[in-house]
Order: sequence, then C-alpha cells, then structure tokens
Amino acid sequence: MAASSSPSPLLLALLPLLLLPALAAAASLPALPLSTSSRWVVGADGRRVKLACANWASHLEPVAAEGLARRGVGDIAARVAAMGFNCVRLTWPTYLATNATLSSLPFRWSLERLGMLESIAGVRVNNPALLDLPLINVFREVVSALSSKGIMVILDNQMTTPGWCCSRTDGNGFFGDKYFDPDEWLKGLSAMATMFNDTKNVVGMSLRNELRGPNQNVSLWYRYMQLGAEAVHAANPNVLVILSGLDFDITLSFLYYKKAELSFTGKLVYEQHWYGFSDGGNWEIQNQNDACGLVVDSIWVKGLFLLQQGWPLFFSEFGFDMSGTHIGDNRYLTCFLSVAAEMDLDWAIWALQGSYYIREGILAYDESYGLLSWDWCTARNPSFIKRINSLQSPFQGLNLSP
Ligand SMILES: *[C@@H]1O[C@H](CO)[C@@H](O)[C@H](O)[C@H]1NC(C)=O
Ligand SMILES: *[C@@H]1O[C@H](CO)[C@@H](O)[C@H](O)[C@H]1NC(C)=O
Ligand SMILES: *[C@@H]1O[C@H](CO)[C@@H](O)[C@H](O)[C@H]1NC(C)=O
Repeated sequence: MAASSSPSPLLLALLPLLLLPALAAAASLPALPLSTSSRWVVGADGRRVKLACANWASHLEPVAAEGLARRGVGDIAARVAAMGFNCVRLTWPTYLATNATLSSLPFRWSLERLGMLESIAGVRVNNPALLDLPLINVFREVVSALSSKGIMVILDNQMTTPGWCCSRTDGNGFFGDKYFDPDEWLKGLSAMATMFNDTKNVVGMSLRNELRGPNQNVSLWYRYMQLGAEAVHAANPNVLVILSGLDFDITLSFLYYKKAELSFTGKLVYEQHWYGFSDGGNWEIQNQNDACGLVVDSIWVKGLFLLQQGWPLFFSEFGFDMSGTHIGDNRYLTCFLSVAAEMDLDWAIWALQGSYYIREGILAYDESYGLLSWDWCTARNPSFIKRINSLQSPFQGLNLSP
C-alpha cells in the first residue's frame, strides 16, 4: 500500500455526494444477519455493510451503559443515529454474564453501593423505567433502544471485572491472569451469545478487548481464540466473531502466515486499534506527512496487510482529543481518516460517552475523546461530526446499492 497522508482528489470530490445517503441509511437496519466475503462485511442480500460505529462503554464499576443519568436511553440512541453511525460497539464485563449476584442487582443498588446518589437521581429523572431493573435487563434495554433506531450492536467483552480498561497489570490482560480464567470467559461468551441469539441487531461479538501484559503468548492466542470463536458460533451462528490482536490490540502481525483455524466460514473478522499515543508516530515534532507515512507502514505490518490477504479488519478503536487543541492528535486524526477513506475501512470511534458515572475513582469524569459533551446534550466537536459523516457510507465493495 502506498503510504499517503491525504485521500485522492477524486475521492474528495465524491465526499459531499456520499454524505446524504449515509444519513438516510442510518434509519434502518441492513439485511441481517451479516457475514463476510473476502475483506468485506456483507448483509444477507450480499450488499456490503460498512461498520461505522461508536464505542459505548457499559463495563465500568456501575455495570450500566454510561450516560443514563444524563439522557433518556431512547434519546441517546436517536443521537447515535442522527450523527450518522449505523452501529455501536457496546462493552460488557464478563461478570455481567457469569455472576448472577451482579447481573440481578438492580441498577439503583449498583449505584448506591458506589455511593453515587446524584447518578441515582439522574437516572430517576431521565430513565425512570430502568432504575429498578436488574443490570442485565438494563443492558438488554440499551440494545433494544438501539434496535428501535436501526442501530446494529457489537458486544465487546472488555474486561472480566467491572472497571476501566486497560493496564498491563490489571489481572485482566491475558488468559490465565488473575481475573482472566479462560473457562469463565468461555462461559460468559456462550451466555451472552445465547442471550442475544434472537436479537437481530446484535450482529457481532468482539471476543476480548486489547489482550496484553506479561503473559501474552501467541500459541495460547490461537488456542483460546479458537475455543472462544467456536463457543460463540455454537450458541449464536448469526453473529460475526471478532478477534483482537496482542499488545493492546495494536498488533496482529503474528497472523501474517497463520490465521485462526475455525470450523465455520464467513463470520470471522479481525480487529485492530489505532491511537496517536500508541502508534509510534512522532506526531508533534516530525513533519506531518513523514510521520503519517512511517506510521502507516507500521500499521500495515501490524494488521492492515490482512485486508490485502482477503480478511476483514475492523478498526474497532480509534480516537482523539476532541477539544482540537492537541496538535499531535489532530495530525494523527488526519492520517487515520485519510487511510480510512483510501482503504474504505470499517471502524468504531472511541467513544460515544461524554462522561462517566465514575472512572478511575473520579466521579463524573469528563471524556475528552467523547463525541458528546460532558452533559451528553450536544456534540463536543460539531465540525468533527461533519468530517466523519463523509466516511460513514461505503465507497467500494460488493454490490453497492445504487
Ligand atoms: C459477584 O458479584 C458480587 C456483586 O458485585 C460480588 O460481591 C461477588 O464477589 C462476585 N462474585 C464473584 C465470584 O466474583
Ligand atoms: C436461543 O437460546 C435459547 C436458550 O436461551 C434456546 O432455547 C434457543 O433454541 C436458541 N435459539 C437458537 C436459534 O439457537
Ligand atoms: C506459551 O504457552 C505455551 C503453552 O502453555 C508454552 O509452552 C510456551 O512456553 C509459552 N511461550 C512463551 C513465550 O511464554
């Protein structure tokens, strides 16, 4: 691939024309279930479906989707659609599926045990119907609210234990770590896949987010990812099975010669993460085009090669400081977006949430990477929404609709 820092002039000329169909298409689900055809994700009608997603966290200590104390769940789902996204990567901790004490805990009590009385008041005002539901039902209500706005959902197993992800030493990084028992993980994946086996808009499952840490091991990756993929497929053959790489999902280079071997076909997608803070780019110091060229070469070796080899690759996390004042992030973003256009990538931005109930011990933590503002009421960076709108519909691929 030619490393380049800007899309072709032809593509730029086409972008305004492509904007309207993207917004219109967000109102209805594509023909489901999804499957894969070479590097593309396709609908049941054989047309390409481009994943244009936002990550929505639901795996932190309260074990509920963020923002429910600030806006109605239906309003949030409508906002996702209005911003042109067709999909949400919704995160969950394994315990939500394997620990009945936790999954049956009413949302109110989950907040109360953390001393979050203001959040309780906020949920009472904005989502009164959710306040006394068990956490697992709150999760299902979120999926259902997204469904009614025509939004697809990818369930992402982010952590075992509820809490902010990810560090090398949090005991959640790799199979066999303190909180990462492979059997419990398989049980959780099966339970989640089964629970949503008749829920049409649940189109994929990310088996585990950002494998990492001192115990990561390529041969165990093949062993457990295969087991996880087979467990999900057995419980729910409709969903795409999405596999993360190593080193916080920044590398899948080990797959160059050997892919995951599965008993089924047409459902496997790989996922890669690309952030300015971890891509090795010397964004603030180096010439922007040179930095982009070097980083793209590196991203290519770490995962992009999969597209050329005919495998779907989903950039399931990218993101930047939406304040617009972070020079390095701004340059990284231009580089990412140009590659996303040129390669017509499937992607998910981190993140939808403008703030968290609590993150890393801080109440009402402001998410500077959030699409939404701290109060969840407006877009944090409206000009970015316009920029991303131009990348939400497909440019290439199979049997594109006219
Ligand atoms: C299950 O969740 C409850 C509530 O969070 C917690 O107290 C308990 O320790 C968990 N059980 C296990 C086995 O992790
Ligand atoms: C979905 O899971 C339920 C158990 O919750 C099971 O009874 C049913 O047969 C499954 N449906 C499909 C289509 O696999
Ligand atoms: C990876 O795990 C396998 C199987 O447990 C083990 O034989 C091998 O030594 C490990 N490799 C590394 C580099 O730790």
